[in-house]
Amino acid sequence: MRMQLPLISVSAGSAGSSGASESHPGGRSALTCRFRCGDACFHPAPNTSANEYVGDVIAGALSRRSMMRAAAVVSVAGAAGAGLASPVAAAENTTVRGRTPSKAARGLRFTAVAPNTADTVTVPDGYRQNVVIRWGEPILRGAPAFDPEKQSAAAQAGQFGYNNDFLALLPLPGERGRQILVANHEYTDEVLMFRGYDAADPTREQVGIAWAAHGLSAVVVEEDRRSGKLTAVSRHPLNRRVTATTEFRLTGPAAGSALLKTSADPTGRKVLGTLNNCSGGTTPWGTTLHGEENFNQYFAGAGRATDKRYGIGAGASERKWERFDKRFDVAQEPNEVHRFGYVVEFDPYDPHSTPRKHTALGRFKHEGATVRLTRDGRPVVYSGDDERFDYFYKFVGSKRMKHGTGRAVREHNLSLLDEGTLYVAKLTGDSPALEIDGTGKLPADGEFDGSGEWIPLVTATGKGAVSHVEGMSAEEVLVFTRLAGDKVGATKMDRPEDIEPNPHTGKVYVALTNNTNRGVGTNAPADEANPRSANKHGHILELTERWNRADSTTFAWTLFLVAGDPNDPATYFAGFPKDRVSPISCPDNVAFDPHGNLWISTDGAQLGHHDGLFGVATKGERRGELKQFLTMPIGAETCGPLVQDRRVLVAVQHPGEISGASVEKPASTWPDGPGKIVRPAVVAVWRADGEDIGV
Ligand code: FEO
Ligand code: CA
Ligand code: CA
Repeated sequence: MRMQLPLISVSAGSAGSSGASESHPGGRSALTCRFRCGDACFHPAPNTSANEYVGDVIAGALSRRSMMRAAAVVSVAGAAGAGLASPVAAAENTTVRGRTPSKAARGLRFTAVAPNTADTVTVPDGYRQNVVIRWGEPILRGAPAFDPEKQSAAAQAGQFGYNNDFLALLPLPGERGRQILVANHEYTDEVLMFRGYDAADPTREQVGIAWAAHGLSAVVVEEDRRSGKLTAVSRHPLNRRVTATTEFRLTGPAAGSALLKTSADPTGRKVLGTLNNCSGGTTPWGTTLHGEENFNQYFAGAGRATDKRYGIGAGASERKWERFDKRFDVAQEPNEVHRFGYVVEFDPYDPHSTPRKHTALGRFKHEGATVRLTRDGRPVVYSGDDERFDYFYKFVGSKRMKHGTGRAVREHNLSLLDEGTLYVAKLTGDSPALEIDGTGKLPADGEFDGSGEWIPLVTATGKGAVSHVEGMSAEEVLVFTRLAGDKVGATKMDRPEDIEPNPHTGKVYVALTNNTNRGVGTNAPADEANPRSANKHGHILELTERWNRADSTTFAWTLFLVAGDPNDPATYFAGFPKDRVSPISCPDNVAFDPHGNLWISTDGAQLGHHDGLFGVATKGERRGELKQFLTMPIGAETCGPLVQDRRVLVAVQHPGEISGASVEKPASTWPDGPGKIVRPAVVAVWRADGEDIGV
């Protein structure tokens, strides 16, 4: 299954929060809401479809397993409340389920970091860290050194972008100790970038800097031989910036559609730029995928009726880009907004390649996109639509990946995501609806669990596409994918973020960050897959595809983790004793370490401390033992975790993003101390003794 380029890892990233003060409905700081997602949580949830919820579609009978458990189970929720020890650190030696395993799962043998509000990256005892690269560091030939007082669009176009999110590391054959780091730059925080920024009247140069600070960076990094330290190699020929003005190719069956034609591009096949790239994935054929997430916020003017589902605002946009390029004004250029909201594919090995937007994977607020192969070598891509009450999707390709290094092989593999079937998930709980009361109390069968199906929406072939949705053409399904999900009755979820298959077990994990509107007012009520009303802390769903095949159209599911303070009865850690786990809130990006443990970064933690990175065992006696590995500085979200044998890599996104903060009045002094501008950056963490992480 492996290709010529031995991939090292896959991961995910995202955007998000202070974890402390003035939180907004979604749990983040007001400044994060404003710049990251265009205050999405202040608007009504855009999914007003009359879809049934999980409780409506309960299978009539309890599963056999449910019946057997029903008599014996005492709700974990009811039993957990009193007398718990401090949930801060997970003990290395503890009695678990009547036995005494000697140690935490391999890969998680470190002393858990206590939750805190320190303005720094705190790592476990015995671990070290370095800043690999910061916003503004020059990576291309000719780019100047960073000077925040003299920043220009031209300088930024050759420098590392802002608000690093998803991270990938790819091998660099022939250059010992070097890898290619690919990073997303999700969005810009103008008030933290520009002294004296006037949001009502941004300058052309500021807008140009913001365009150049979005997008992606590829930068070669070099390992220190004696540690896990990484440093960026500036001016390497593979270093590259992709920005909001880089040329992209639209591919797949909607390319060339009338829905995608604009006055600047009558072909409907050529787009400038990528926006709000949140998380992503690394493909087995050596490219990276990047989800265009909250793209709607960059567009001004009322859209078509169909675009209301995507939250296009009626007035001016936050950043006022429409004043400098009319394509950002939907009233003047109605189709430009249809050209964002896709999964982007980038080839880091070809610095002259034109990146692609894959229409076959649908258009929505893609949190990310992660890939695995079917047994016969076809790609399967999972992607969540990060919005309250929105859906998650799977694409199953019809063409097999080829092995080899030639140009023809590479071209073939770059077309793999243009043909296949896009599905949306529908989940059914196995417990009676009455047992799901919105408090998080476990039902009588002891688990939030059930079955699910992947409902086909559209099949793309080499000759076009076929819609499986009544009343919608294939092109409409691909461009207005949310509406297609509504029509087929997909399950409304609590903000589906990263989705990642466990390479050790094949089980698939879906992070659901939170949804404070669940069960509130006329919004959809709690159901077995989203069991808490006003869900502040989120949960993680574990899917087992039928026969453990990536191309199955049915699956079983269970909630692996129901997040929050372990002292809160409405939490669940896969049945692991809750006095032995770290508190966690708002799971967002997920990744796997080489041992098969799940690593989770958080966005907008609502427990009074900063966001962080956590590892949790997914199998064995320690399944559910969750331990905090690091914490973020003030205002920052943990993104892009990558866990290699000897190194953990994280993106520190939006440090200092606290309401009221500005360049003049910073809320954080990370990473360079007092008097220096706050800068998003990538951090590497390793063991001081040179041994592997967590063993
Ligand atoms: Fe960019 Fe869904 O976080
Ligand atoms: Ca995210
Ligand atoms: Ca159940």
